[in-house]
Amino acid sequence: MADAATALKIKELDQETQKTMRKLFTGERGGFVRIGPKGYLVTERYKEMAADIYNMEIRPDDVWVVTYARSGTTWTQELVWMVANDLDYKTSKAIVLPERFPFLEHAMMLYPSLKQEILEEKNNDPHVKKVLELFSEPFAKPLASTPSPRFIKSHLPISLLSPKLLDAKVVYVARDPRDAAVSFWHMGSSLRTISFDGDFKTYWNLFIKDLLYWTPFFEHLKEAWEQRNNPNLLFIFYEELQKDLKGVVHRVADFLGKTYTEEQIIELCDHLNFKNFKTNPAVNSDLLRDIGLVHNKHEFIRKGKTGGWRDYFDEEMTAQADKWMEVNLRDTDLRFPH
Ligand code: A3P
Repeated sequence: MADAATALKIKELDQETQKTMRKLFTGERGGFVRIGPKGYLVTERYKEMAADIYNMEIRPDDVWVVTYARSGTTWTQELVWMVANDLDYKTSKAIVLPERFPFLEHAMMLYPSLKQEILEEKNNDPHVKKVLELFSEPFAKPLASTPSPRFIKSHLPISLLSPKLLDAKVVYVARDPRDAAVSFWHMGSSLRTISFDGDFKTYWNLFIKDLLYWTPFFEHLKEAWEQRNNPNLLFIFYEELQKDLKGVVHRVADFLGKTYTEEQIIELCDHLNFKNFKTNPAVNSDLLRDIGLVHNKHEFIRKGKTGGWRDYFDEEMTAQADKWMEVNLRDTDLRFPH
């Protein structure tokens, strides 16, 4: 296990790369750095919160959902929260998911200057102010006084989280990187914190060069895959949620020590079904639009399909993806279910 100084060692990008990145990610206000031995790409602002996150106290009754971005995080969060909370539909509808299940490092993308700009645009609307303040404050400290059980979402790889993370229950979700990349490009182009100004091909090329937030992608996945036999980590795939939601609900229930009847599980699957999810304002991130964090009519819950990447990849990119995946899967038995 690495000591904190090694685990969080910062490496600056070379000037040319930084310049290119700042041009493309027009919403990023501080630039990018690499962190840790694997050189995960995070924002400049992350430096302020890295140690607090790494040193967070982990509680055995914490429930975490950890994923690479756009891998079915929100879907899994709601599933996990419902299973852990005795299927409490009333609270799940009354309190939005980001409050029930906060995004640990959200503030790394939401700089105080952007918060201020949005607040001015919204004439200091008190609701907008409350939510923006919540999202732009690093969460690690307030989480220390949050009552148990805590529910925490993160896109950080395991090596940037507490070395004691697996004292808690962790659900890790992986998705075919081609679909995750397409989904992330759509989101990156519409979120004001990212405001990516380029086409999908450019985004894809950054992804495979480990120049997107939280990359390198395969290192992220492999860190969790290596822990898949740890009783406190449940490794699932987005593709499994798609193909057999009921089966995954059963696995999550077993993992969290809960028992439900078949009827209850069917009802939960209906609640989690794409159509219902998309129109449920407690989970569909309409909130981001309401508070002015989205440029256009971006849909956070977008297509909800596997294999949609085919519409975005030309022949060259398809061959490049095959090769990239083959090389990165060579030293592991991790495989995406198709
Ligand atoms: P697409 O953009 O491919 O549609 P995350 O929550 O990690 O950001 O992942 C978002 C992706 O999960 C989006 O993928 C979104 O549509 C999909 N998703 C969210 N809820 C879903 C659901 N209930 N059923 C199927 N897919 C869902």
